[in-house]
Amino acid sequence: MDKLKITANGHLNGEIVISGAKNAALPLMCAALLTKERLHLTNVPMLRDVKTTQKLLQGMGARVMTDNVHEFEFDCSRINNTCAPYELVKTMRASILVLGPTLSHFGEAQVSLPGGCAIGSRPVDQHLKGLEAMGAEILIEHGYVKARAKRLKGARIVMDMVTVTGTENLLMAATLADGITVLENAATEPEVTDLADCLVKMGADIQGIGTRTLTIRGVEKLHGCSHSVVPDRIEAGTFLCAVAMAGGKVVLRRAAPKTMQVVLDKLTEAGAIIEAGDDWIAIDMQNRPKAVDIRTLPYPAFPTDMQAQFMAMNAIAEGSSKIVETIFENRFMHVPELNRMGADISAEGNTAIVKGVEKLSGATVMATDLRASACLVLAGLVAQGETIVERIYHLDRGYENIEQKLGNVGARIERIS
Ligand code: EPU
Repeated sequence: MDKLKITANGHLNGEIVISGAKNAALPLMCAALLTKERLHLTNVPMLRDVKTTQKLLQGMGARVMTDNVHEFEFDCSRINNTCAPYELVKTMRASILVLGPTLSHFGEAQVSLPGGCAIGSRPVDQHLKGLEAMGAEILIEHGYVKARAKRLKGARIVMDMVTVTGTENLLMAATLADGITVLENAATEPEVTDLADCLVKMGADIQGIGTRTLTIRGVEKLHGCSHSVVPDRIEAGTFLCAVAMAGGKVVLRRAAPKTMQVVLDKLTEAGAIIEAGDDWIAIDMQNRPKAVDIRTLPYPAFPTDMQAQFMAMNAIAEGSSKIVETIFENRFMHVPELNRMGADISAEGNTAIVKGVEKLSGATVMATDLRASACLVLAGLVAQGETIVERIYHLDRGYENIEQKLGNVGARIERIS
């Protein structure tokens, strides 16, 4: 299994090009199931989760054409299997995103229920409740969700909590339903907005994009289109944290600063000088970061997917900070690993208190989820001695060429196969 070897190498300087967002690319690929015409996607990040989604669609009978450098075309005109099997779903929870579009377009879908995961139990009850409100018959049998509906019907659905993939699943399902669907308490994450924008290009009628209430007037059919995946705000935020910790001056290209205001504000509070244009962000950090308090909440507030990286920064910051995680019940798995590197963090329930230390020391560490792995890479960039991050297949699910991108700005980081 691959590992990363990291040795501190001072300031980071130069430019990094940001990839398309994983969490936008996955639902966009699933949206191809809504049309018999071709969906052409560009700026798709080459990640393990993207490959898994490709396999999932191919297993259903989709033709997938790709140049293997960020461009894909999907042809779902010959779908002959409406099942997402356990073998794939267990490796990627986002597989649940085929449920809404498959059911809506083909009248039936079977998707293995994703189990719990390292960061929380993550049920999908809101996805199912919404589809049932739209008239689907849903059965849970042998670990699978089995859904049927001749044609879904528009409904008013109030979601119990803000759920990103829940909103995406119901939004896709509603585009082909009979009548008007109103989704209340919808997620407003930029990745949801990106999906909605693409669906509109495909001929969907959606009002309220980017707000908590989405109104969808179902249409008879959708057509193909071409769409570029929104830049990855979490990848961008991760690199900004790297610079805030190691110091230096870095410019991020092809970024989307408008989707990450709160992260930029927190970095400014930590002492970084941030400048941004339409599609670039520059960070200049010459001092030790100052500790900043964090509370994760749905967009536009602070993202849970940046919590671990900010904890790594706070671990070496001047002062103490409080980090409250309100989205997932078990997303502090990186705390003991950071402490093994010399951090002073205590966590109880959903709150962690981080007392900044002057120095971390390199160690062999591993993480059980994607963003926790990223936080250990950041810690390795500033720790004394050598850090080995194990189990980096988690990182490969969500960061494209992370060692190359960080290496290009001066980090000493090497993949060991
Ligand atoms: N929830 C329920 N019932 C549901 C759906 C969600 O109780 O039916 C709960 C979850 O257990 C969680 C909260 O609601 O406590 C929010 O979960 P959400 O559904 O929003 O998460 P998700 O859609 O499964 C997406 C991202 C995650 C990201 C979260 C939160 C994708 C593919 N995944 O997950 O990304 O952390 O939203 O923003 O979009 C990552 O990229 O590392 C990652 C985990």
